[in-house]
Amino acid sequence: MKTRYEKFGIKNTFRCPKCFAPLSLSGQSLVCENGHCFDIAKKGYVNLALGRGGSMHYDKALFESRGTVLKAGFYSHILGAAHLLLAETGAKRILDAGCGEGYYARALAAEGFDVYAFDLAKDAVALASDGGTPVKLMVADMTAIPLSDGSMDAILDAFSPAHYGEYRRVLREGGHTVKIIPGENHLKELRRAAKPLLRHSEYENGADVEAHFASHFRLVKTVEAQETFPLSKEVLPHLLRMTPLLFGVNTDALPLDALGEITVAAKLLVGRKE
Ligand SMILES: C[S@@+](CC[C@H](N)C(=O)[O-])C[C@H]1O[C@@H](n2cnc3c(N)ncnc32)[C@H](O)[C@@H]1O
Ligand SMILES: [Zn+2]
Repeated sequence: MKTRYEKFGIKNTFRCPKCFAPLSLSGQSLVCENGHCFDIAKKGYVNLALGRGGSMHYDKALFESRGTVLKAGFYSHILGAAHLLLAETGAKRILDAGCGEGYYARALAAEGFDVYAFDLAKDAVALASDGGTPVKLMVADMTAIPLSDGSMDAILDAFSPAHYGEYRRVLREGGHTVKIIPGENHLKELRRAAKPLLRHSEYENGADVEAHFASHFRLVKTVEAQETFPLSKEVLPHLLRMTPLLFGVNTDALPLDALGEITVAAKLLVGRKE
């Protein structure tokens, strides 16, 4: 495997977030012709965000909880569906936008894709680089993606906010975006249990998200992925911590004893840049 620095030695792909000139590898940094310099962290990611890099609601404990739930396999059917759809597009170079702690990016790299990934939360990107990975990991903001125009074959956006103008810019002509959103039945057992405490117990914006997506990409395909898993007492607190639905809710007040299983459901939208 390439070293944590060498993997960034790709020409005409990284773009300086300050002046938009190409970045190239020099020693252990990415540099542009105008003297802007971004050091690659020892863990093997580069911070190309101009702010401090952080994101509301998301902290290290949350990403660790998310990691526990993901590693326990609760999202493996969604990963499988995303893998299949990306393979069908023929894409080789993939960008995971809002990659969190890298569950999808690392798995896709292990399947042989050439994977780039970024998140605005530095803690998440640091977790994603734990133990080394061929994924080119960046701390970056999706409203200003530090990659060149037309440099990617496909973009994966799993449960993240999207910036379709930027997605279109970094995709090549005919490239694809796979956008994953919660399915109608996502966490339905938990939503049922928490109903009295929630402002919104339904995912009601699915149709809006799809219409917005279809206004930027030609919708090629929509696929659903749904599984119901037994829920152990060990995983439950992590699931509660990672669920945006419950941000700000006192979960101690929830009647959770009856929660023996949980449904994880997603809709995957595939769109083509034309
Ligand atoms: C629900 S999480 C999904 C993480 C990952 N894709 C997954 O499914 O495991 C949403 C992610 O979007 C990231 N995010 C939010 N705003 C962002 C922005 N402007 N630029 C980049 N990432 C952002 C958050 O930090 C968070 O990691
Ligand atoms: Zn520059």
